Amino acid sequence: MSNYHIKNLEEYWQVYRKSIQNPEQFWEEIAEEHFLWRKKWDSVLEWDFSKPEVSWFKGAKLNITENCIDRHLATRGDKTAILFEPNNPKEEAQHITYKQLHARVCQFANVLKAQGVTKGDRVCLYLPMIPELAIAVLACARIGAVHSVVFAGFSASALATRINDCDCKLIICSDGSYRGAKTIDLKSIVDEALEDCQSVSKSLVIKRTNGNVTMKEGRDIWLQPLLDVADTSCPATIMDAEDPLFVLYTSGSTGKPKGMVHTTGGYMVYAAYSFKNVFQYTEQDIYWCTADIGWITGHSYIVYGPLVNGATTVMFEGVPSYPDFGRFWEIVEKHKVNQFYTAPTAIRALAKENLSFVEKYDLSSLKVLGTVGEPINEEAWHWYNDNIGKKNSPIVDTWWQTETGGIMISPIPYTTPTIPTFATFPLPGIQPALLNENGEELKGNQVEGKLAIKFPWPSMARTIYGNHQRYKETYFSAFKNMYFTGDGARRDAVGYYRITGRVDDVIIVSGHNLGTAPIEDAINEHPAVAESAIVGFPHDIKGNALYGYITLKETGESRNHDNLRKEINQLITERIGPIAKLEKIQFTLGLPKTRSGKIMRRILRKIAEKDTNNLGDTSTLLNPEVVQNIIDNALV
Ligand code: WT7
Repeated sequence: MSNYHIKNLEEYWQVYRKSIQNPEQFWEEIAEEHFLWRKKWDSVLEWDFSKPEVSWFKGAKLNITENCIDRHLATRGDKTAILFEPNNPKEEAQHITYKQLHARVCQFANVLKAQGVTKGDRVCLYLPMIPELAIAVLACARIGAVHSVVFAGFSASALATRINDCDCKLIICSDGSYRGAKTIDLKSIVDEALEDCQSVSKSLVIKRTNGNVTMKEGRDIWLQPLLDVADTSCPATIMDAEDPLFVLYTSGSTGKPKGMVHTTGGYMVYAAYSFKNVFQYTEQDIYWCTADIGWITGHSYIVYGPLVNGATTVMFEGVPSYPDFGRFWEIVEKHKVNQFYTAPTAIRALAKENLSFVEKYDLSSLKVLGTVGEPINEEAWHWYNDNIGKKNSPIVDTWWQTETGGIMISPIPYTTPTIPTFATFPLPGIQPALLNENGEELKGNQVEGKLAIKFPWPSMARTIYGNHQRYKETYFSAFKNMYFTGDGARRDAVGYYRITGRVDDVIIVSGHNLGTAPIEDAINEHPAVAESAIVGFPHDIKGNALYGYITLKETGESRNHDNLRKEINQLITERIGPIAKLEKIQFTLGLPKTRSGKIMRRILRKIAEKDTNNLGDTSTLLNPEVVQNIIDNALV
């Protein structure tokens, strides 16, 4: 029996048990049967969480793009690999076949080589959701360059930080991007960023919006003329299973963003295996994930997971509200989408609009619905289930992280009975644990604690780029010999997991992971600000929104506070991006602190949540008097 495609609950348990009792044999069988290796491994798994060091399929040789493209050419050459739906519904969709994808990836890879990019070099990608983004990702992988995709909604300064952190040699960008009715001038953001980036010597520019751009002599090059004359074949650079495939940045609760490093062999195996099972993909299906490739969801479940499985993967350039709130459903009907994967924040935004936006379209092609990024509330779950799935398409609530590389806890559709807000069971190979404050594992069911993973899985990040010590401290120090996720969870009576949310200072806004520290740093740059603290509070559409408590250097000054609020949000937009703007800004006389000077975010969080009846004992604070004042002036 192949355990690659799980088809019923009994089989799930069989496969799961096997994956726990003999993980190496389990993953070895999957790796052997379903992938193209140039050389097999010497060992399946070596690991030591105390260092931490993990390697999967050590000694094996492969190129992931041969798995994504070349090996499909004989059987699926004319099948659509990437189905591109442009921002403007009047612009024609593009069907890129596996054969065409092969040629375009090879040409792009040859251009990169000609620009001096070699194995191990880091290449930054700052692009809209156009086919060239997926092609550029694969072109890097083709020649062993490490891609670092930066979401094209980040500001120049956030882009520069990410480029500098991993010393990118080259950047691939576009003149601009279309997002709904807006055209965004991406190239000028790149120009601004590159002023602070010494490592980047070349920038390859893709034409998308035909806007005016300045091309810096000797640095900026239009891509298309180079592609036009590039060879359509390019031998794949053979990589070690543990060679890095990409770096992807995610926010932490403190410090600068963390460049999570994912490697080649294990990542490929797990992305492909989890894709196949969580979406129950079959050969004729059209699969659509609405995420941006700038996030891990796009890496694993727009590009790598689907393509390794020879799937048709939809790439959508636009936004759910353009030209109107029916756009997602129009696309589902138009392309007869079978699996649809989106975020709770998008569901909540669309659920607020008139149902006629949904009812206009034939959604009968849908077989599986997915969500990811944050806990989905019950109301949104029901709206999705009733109106989109018509109670016929199971919802897979998939819990995972940038760091985990692939989905960790999720129902298997048509197999695991779903309940709103429960991510249900771990996928095969995943061994979750719940721990109490003392680090003791809570055994049995009906327990709640901090969520950790006890055993390695193939797609886990191996390190933080340039800072292994931070990797160790962040993920492997909270609990001995376990990976700590930063999330809390409950295990119910049947063993289903329900993720309760972050237990650290990371706040998830519209599914975007935001650390408090970089936002506070941006605010504190304002000359009028003395100090600040950010907390999350519940928000109907975004899940959480940001509430900033800010103490000014001169209290009681006559400055116009509304202007100040605007200036502060402007600073945040410049330093991080509009996603990190504060919903509410309260100017305070001081911030509650412990005697050791640590800001008591817990108290501030409760005030923002309007839960002031149980603030706990505030008398031991350094400055208990500020609390009442904050409550009295709270913006709730
Ligand atoms: C954090 C990771 C994984 C891709 C997108 C986010 C939260 C993610 C769920 C879910 C409850 C979820 C967690 C996690 N999260 N999926 N289904 N239910 N919470 O990746 O930016 O690395 O964020 O997102 O808090 O730790 P990320």
